[in-house]
Amino acid sequence: MDESQLKLYYETALDLTRGGGKMIQEHHNKSKNILTKTSSVDLVTETDQRVEKHLVSSLLEKFPEHKYIGEESVADGQLIELTDNPTWIIDPIDGTMNFIHGYPNFCISIGLWIKKKPYIGIVYNPILELMFTAQIGKGAFLNGNCISTSSVTELDKALMLTEFGNTRTPESMSMVMENLQRLLPLTHGVRVCGASALNIAMVAMGGADVFYQAGLYIWDLAAGVLLVQEAGGFVSDPAGGKLDPLNRQVLVASTEELARKVIPHIKLCVVD
Ligand code: IPD
Ligand code: CA
Ligand code: CA
Ligand code: CA
Repeated sequence: MDESQLKLYYETALDLTRGGGKMIQEHHNKSKNILTKTSSVDLVTETDQRVEKHLVSSLLEKFPEHKYIGEESVADGQLIELTDNPTWIIDPIDGTMNFIHGYPNFCISIGLWIKKKPYIGIVYNPILELMFTAQIGKGAFLNGNCISTSSVTELDKALMLTEFGNTRTPESMSMVMENLQRLLPLTHGVRVCGASALNIAMVAMGGADVFYQAGLYIWDLAAGVLLVQEAGGFVSDPAGGKLDPLNRQVLVASTEELARKVIPHIKLCVVD
């Protein structure tokens, strides 16, 4: 990839993300028009839709040959495909439930993938002013300062993050609970904060040591996995194999050694 080209993509995405952040700030702690998607806990607001429109239309105007995958543009049940073409993968608000309640743990997540590899990752919490950025081969940053994962290798020293997801089927609930029951006593602690992309960014900055989830989508992880890789951490499938970004499961950890200690305790199942 041509350096100047990557720089242009990165600076454009950064600028648009800041613009999207302003749109979110304006609606934080205000009443919202809430729509239900697949279930009573799968929600979207006008702000999610407006931020996605702003990002997608501006990116395609600048780079008409690029593709995109945006959470709010995907129809229910639509097959999501990632090709080799440069593809912007966008979650306009990750943590919509938090946004609706005014719990300030949510973010914009934008990843640029080319030939099925991440080249740019941006995760931005506009309320707490946390701007996580990464470009392939250039390290990971928080508000311009270089970040790295922790060096924790032991489960009993690890702060673990996970998510309950939006699925409420008995199978999915028991998977989540069984995993928690097994892992909670083995770790320093477990946190469930309601925004998968931010959880991944937290592992990148060393604020937490490991995150796993089944049931998330490509837009939840597309930016974060590059942050973790560039911060020196480990990214895989929760079974330990190569991450498939469309497989709806992810494991990120400070170190491969820690990840290998978590993997045997995670029980996988169909999520919905
Ligand atoms: C959701 C959040 C949540 C996670 C869900 C995601 P959204 O994203 O990241 O923490 O548990 O799996 O779908 O819908 O708020 O963008
Ligand atoms: Ca959603
Ligand atoms: Ca999300
Ligand atoms: Ca979202």
